[in-house]
Amino acid sequence: MKELKIEYKTKTVRLVFGRGVFTNSLFPEGRKYLVLTDENVARLHGDKFKKISRFVKVLPPGEGSKTLDAASSLVSFLLEEGFTKDDCLVACGGGMITDLGGFVASVYKRGMGFISVPTTLLAQADSALGGKNGVNFASGEKTFKNQIGTIYQPELVAADPLFLKTLPPEEFRSGLGEVLKCGLCFSPSLFARLRDGFDENDIFECLSIKAEITAQDEFEEGARALLNYGHTLGHALESLSGFRLRHGEAVALGLLHETEEQSIKEKIRELLEKYSFPEFRFDKRELAAYIRQDKKIRQGKIRLPVLKDIGMTELLETDFDAYLQRLL
Ligand SMILES: NC(=O)c1ccc[n+]([C@@H]2O[C@H](COP(=O)([O-])OP(=O)(O)OC[C@H]3O[C@@H](n4cnc5c(N)ncnc54)[C@H](O)[C@@H]3O)[C@@H](O)[C@H]2O)c1
Repeated sequence: MKELKIEYKTKTVRLVFGRGVFTNSLFPEGRKYLVLTDENVARLHGDKFKKISRFVKVLPPGEGSKTLDAASSLVSFLLEEGFTKDDCLVACGGGMITDLGGFVASVYKRGMGFISVPTTLLAQADSALGGKNGVNFASGEKTFKNQIGTIYQPELVAADPLFLKTLPPEEFRSGLGEVLKCGLCFSPSLFARLRDGFDENDIFECLSIKAEITAQDEFEEGARALLNYGHTLGHALESLSGFRLRHGEAVALGLLHETEEQSIKEKIRELLEKYSFPEFRFDKRELAAYIRQDKKIRQGKIRLPVLKDIGMTELLETDFDAYLQRLL
């Protein structure tokens, strides 16, 4: 087992990683637990969750469950069952479940206990750590990603690669999109290794990198924004595709299109081909409407991570319209 203690301003987060780290001993008696999961994860791993608590909430899988309505039903349930601030919400699932669970835990009585048990590669390598959470929000005919959320740290993240044995290949590939980003932006050795293949221990490298960056800058006032490389375009593509493109697939396309240096672009393209990432054709004007909703835009300016070289990323404050023209 590998372990990190990450000192955030608001909380110390314990991270455990390795095959078999998910055991009942992570959930000592003395408080109530609500396990939140989705139907796929419940079907494949539900027997393990029943041992943690008699309170298990199972939602339909997919982005359609990451809504304020779902959050509000969970709050009703917590109230009806008499959960207090000292009790704990345990999110067992992919990024959809850990984002929704983290959001509910952060607002219920202004913050209750929260444990994150990521079960997809994407959630293990990236989204379960750092405290960002949120729900999608529909306005008119469009649904915008993660428009309502908070930054709220879990007390524990338990990333157990045994969960990944049941993960469908397309979900695995989506997670690889975030692993690729991590190598491309922060670790030339990881980026080079990915040409030979993926190793489970790469997850811990991604987590260690994210832990260091997010502990330095918990509320994204500076360096944390570097983690958003590829995401400006990625989020917009994900929404524009009506969520047919998975998050990591969209991020991978974002990495390709946001990278200017041709030799690096070529290396990214080779990796996307190696791992069979899907292509996606988009209408530039339509895409622009989605990019305009990006949370990073403030007073017409956007602070963007730009890639200087493999493993070297820096932030550039730029005029949003100029950026859009260059990108599209
Ligand atoms: N908070 C953050 O920092 C952050 C970062 C990146 C992405 N995200 C969010 O994460 C979400 C995407 O996460 P995701 O890719 O994990 O998607 P997801 O949670 O929708 O899971 C993908 C699919 O895999 C299934 N699944 C989960 N675990 C499984 C397992 N062990 N075996 C078999 N099937 C399993 C789910 O049921 C679902 O169908 C998006 O909502 C995105 O916005 C958040």
